[in-house]
Amino acid sequence: MERILITGGAGFIGSHLAEKLLAQGHTVVSVDDLALGRRENFRSYANDDRFTFIEADATDVDGMEQVIRANGIERVYHLAANSDIQKSAADPGIDYKNTFATTYAVLEAMRRTGVKKLFFSSTSAVYGDKRGQALREDTGGLAPISYYGSAKLASEAFISAYSYMNGMQTLIFRFPNVIGPRLTHGVIFDFIRKLQVDPKHLEILGDGTQCKPYLYVLDLVDAIVDFSFRTREGVEIYNIGVDTATTVRKIADMVCDRLGLTDVEYRFTGGNVGWKGDVPAFQYDLSRIYATGWCAGHNSDESVRATLESLEI
Ligand SMILES: NC(=O)c1ccc[n+]([C@@H]2O[C@H](COP(=O)([O-])OP(=O)(O)OC[C@H]3O[C@@H](n4cnc5c(N)ncnc54)[C@H](O)[C@@H]3O)[C@@H](O)[C@H]2O)c1
Repeated sequence: MERILITGGAGFIGSHLAEKLLAQGHTVVSVDDLALGRRENFRSYANDDRFTFIEADATDVDGMEQVIRANGIERVYHLAANSDIQKSAADPGIDYKNTFATTYAVLEAMRRTGVKKLFFSSTSAVYGDKRGQALREDTGGLAPISYYGSAKLASEAFISAYSYMNGMQTLIFRFPNVIGPRLTHGVIFDFIRKLQVDPKHLEILGDGTQCKPYLYVLDLVDAIVDFSFRTREGVEIYNIGVDTATTVRKIADMVCDRLGLTDVEYRFTGGNVGWKGDVPAFQYDLSRIYATGWCAGHNSDESVRATLESLEI
């Protein structure tokens, strides 16, 4: 059993990851500044003897070094990042700090302490808008169109150099849209909030045809844990996701069904992107991860449905 650090551990995905690692018998230290994370996300295991929560800013290199030393950390899952992409569109410094500088601080703290095992949560946003192309891990010309995507790509570049220079074993997953219990942002969350305020009308950004693959968080977390204990020296990158995709309009229909609303007028803001920096549609080539035998337990529509069933509305 290992002593594991999760950054961003109070967030949506990080809190599920901590739960899974604890269930496997590991000791988990979770660091989060609670900017977007919430204590209630880890309430069910907050009193577990093998769990420690530390409220701290993961951009603090000395602080992260101290956390690693004081807790004898052997492996790091780095998930801390800004997840409010629209907010950083108005203030790019948010992504520079929370998406990129957290990565630098984690890497530098690992270098100083000699910790060699790293998992990093990257994103489809590193590719930029490459509609019509099935995105492979070795697709060239990566050109992010959001500050978030660029901070993740810069993070991948730093991870590559730190891994090479320090003999690290690194696993990077490029996530698509991830959904499930404890969801705190994204289209499903937004639609529910809007409809709770006004059950007769729903404003939909864009024209509703934006179409993306949705991965269920528990499928993702199982894969993260399974793959991360099989890494070798160097950097392994995987696209992870599902073959199917769901349109925004279909999500709106499913949310209305879940809320029992039958007479909702959709008001589209128009255009085929939700907001500047949004990639309206993308398709992964998943052959690298499929070659390992992995396959998600839920397809895209099933992920949406399971998420809606899990939310207390
Ligand atoms: N949810 C998705 O659809 C998705 C898609 C692609 C990639 N990702 C990546 O997965 C990871 C987890 O995302 P999530 O959906 O759980 O988002 P989230 O916002 O719920 O979790 C991120 C956590 O990081 C914390 N954080 C941010 N800046 C910090 C800082 N400076 N110091 C300490 N903590 C800080 C936040 O408080 C939050 O709890 C992120 O790296 C995100 O970029 C998520």
